[in-house]
Amino acid sequence: MDKFEAFPTGKKRKEIVEQTVKKAVHFKDSAEIEIIDFERYTWIDSPLEGSGMVGQGLDFGSSFKDVLPKREISLKNYIETILQKRKGRAIGVEFGGVGLRLFNGFTPGFFAKSIAVTLADHRRWKLRLSELKERDRKIHHKVLEGNIFDLKTYESLNQYLDNKKVDLIIERMGQGLEFVPTEPYTVSKILQIWYDLLREGGVMFVQTPVVFNNLLEAWVIKIKNEFKGVIEIEYQKGKKDNDAYIPCSAFRLHKLPRAPNELPFLDSRTVTKIPKAN
Ligand SMILES: C[S@@+](CC[C@H](N)C(=O)[O-])C[C@H]1O[C@@H](n2cnc3c(N)ncnc32)[C@H](O)[C@@H]1O
Repeated sequence: MDKFEAFPTGKKRKEIVEQTVKKAVHFKDSAEIEIIDFERYTWIDSPLEGSGMVGQGLDFGSSFKDVLPKREISLKNYIETILQKRKGRAIGVEFGGVGLRLFNGFTPGFFAKSIAVTLADHRRWKLRLSELKERDRKIHHKVLEGNIFDLKTYESLNQYLDNKKVDLIIERMGQGLEFVPTEPYTVSKILQIWYDLLREGGVMFVQTPVVFNNLLEAWVIKIKNEFKGVIEIEYQKGKKDNDAYIPCSAFRLHKLPRAPNELPFLDSRTVTKIPKAN
């Protein structure tokens, strides 16, 4: 039997969060070397569905296929169907990516605006930043450089959004999950911010680190049992954070009318009894 390893508490918890923040800051400061010289990531600007060019990365549709409702096989079709009433006015956000190929995969004009939040705009070493910005502007896309664990990032995001809520949130960071602290409380604070940002009727697709698999399962069961009809949620368990061939660990959350204002979480006592997954 595997040894029970709990998530950190107290001083250890703080240390883990600080170390992860430091690692992310280091990556941001040396992004050019990390990305170009060390080829840190093989998925940089992945397509929504279908295979892109070699080196573009696994499509989002393949990663999230097991959280779609039964009989739905297309991520694009699912999103455009549930957001049908928002067509032409919808707003989408990708956390942890540059989002261009992702949002280009939707029906042209479906999203009025899209924003992608990333530690660094990986495209800027291949094309001039001014050219990129001009190209993004034409299709109402914006890349915001910032850390998803830094509250200042959300100030800039809300400013760009004119404090409007969004219809789609998607995060599939793969190897980028290395900058997510293995600390449930910090992660739940960010999920709360995303849930709050999501409009009623909106949907989020979120990849979670494999180490949280047991927590993910317990949390989804709680929501299914206690919030039926107001939050629709589905999850899938992966084996590796950056596996290009099988679905990752992830959940889909559809915020329905009369959904609670706060995203419900497991209480801290329950969390201490749930082991890390290995
Ligand atoms: C492997 S790439 C995936 C990019 C894109 N989502 C895709 O699937 O093609 C990892 C991404 O996560 C981003 N990332 C990692 N940690 C982050 C953080 N703390 N805040 C914002 N972005 C982060 C990196 O900047 C990078 O864009």
